[in-house]
Amino acid sequence: MSQPSASGGLGIRDLTLSIGRGEKAKRILRGISLDVPAGRITGLAGESGSGKTMTGMTVLGLQPEQATVGGVIEFDGRNLLELPTKKLNTLRGNDIAMVFQDPTSSLHPMLSIGSQLTDHLRQHTGMSKREALERARVVLEQVKVPDPAGALKKYPHQFSGGQLQRVAIASAIMCSPSVLIADEPTTALDVTVQAGILRLLRELCDDLGLAILLVTHDLGVMSALADTIAVMREGEIVEHGDRFQVITAPRDPYTRALIDALPRDGSTGAEQATTGDAS
Ligand SMILES: Nc1ncnc2c1ncn2[C@@H]1O[C@H](COP(=O)(O)OP(=O)(O)O)[C@@H](O)[C@H]1O
Ligand SMILES: [Mg+2]
Repeated sequence: MSQPSASGGLGIRDLTLSIGRGEKAKRILRGISLDVPAGRITGLAGESGSGKTMTGMTVLGLQPEQATVGGVIEFDGRNLLELPTKKLNTLRGNDIAMVFQDPTSSLHPMLSIGSQLTDHLRQHTGMSKREALERARVVLEQVKVPDPAGALKKYPHQFSGGQLQRVAIASAIMCSPSVLIADEPTTALDVTVQAGILRLLRELCDDLGLAILLVTHDLGVMSALADTIAVMREGEIVEHGDRFQVITAPRDPYTRALIDALPRDGSTGAEQATTGDAS
């Protein structure tokens, strides 16, 4: 049953990805179906190597070159897997943006925050430098970077890890995307700043109506933030449901094992994490 995805969101249907050919092909994604609707945070959990990052990368058309991809990734009435490279390049960054674990990976060390935030926007829209800088200032304010005007003149090394992740998020939303893929956005950060970044993602989702795919191996983070949680294992989604249902009454034994392994001291920074009913 294939239904159109909610406006602005993603509809992933039977997504497969293998690397290599014939007998030796390694099946990395084994038929993933997942809706990522607008105004919701869809959590994608699962242990390391289960295929979470590859799912996000494939949505962006950034899968390894030798990979074979099948299925449908519906966005705005189109199948992203059938788009010509040029169209996909335009969508990427403009309509579908990504935030990574390490904010330095998406920021250039030698360029001021002002030029990094505005370069792409100016190329894409033909905005004047002044207009683009004003937009950048507003977006930095939106992601709660202190002194946004001053921040535009700074360089990445002048920010702490948490502030830099806010800048990277600002960079991701500069062109007003409708989908944001956040891959382990707090994993590399100090525990004390993790909760703030997660709250920010929630606010952006609610205020801008973003469809957020939140990828994390951390079910504690998920339980505090996601509206629905999908659990991946070995390239398959073994469970997907409302976060409360998944955390308190998981249907899949693997999900239960993950929940049982959750720390109970809030050390994930997910301060509202429920403890489930494992005791
Ligand atoms: N460039 C690549 N070439 C071949 N295999 C890869 C590549 N990147 C990841 N993989 C494999 O794909 C599987 C899923 O990886 P990944 O999506 O990064 O997992 P996760 O994000 O859930 O930790 C793993 O088995 C990993 O070894
Ligand atoms: Mg990963």
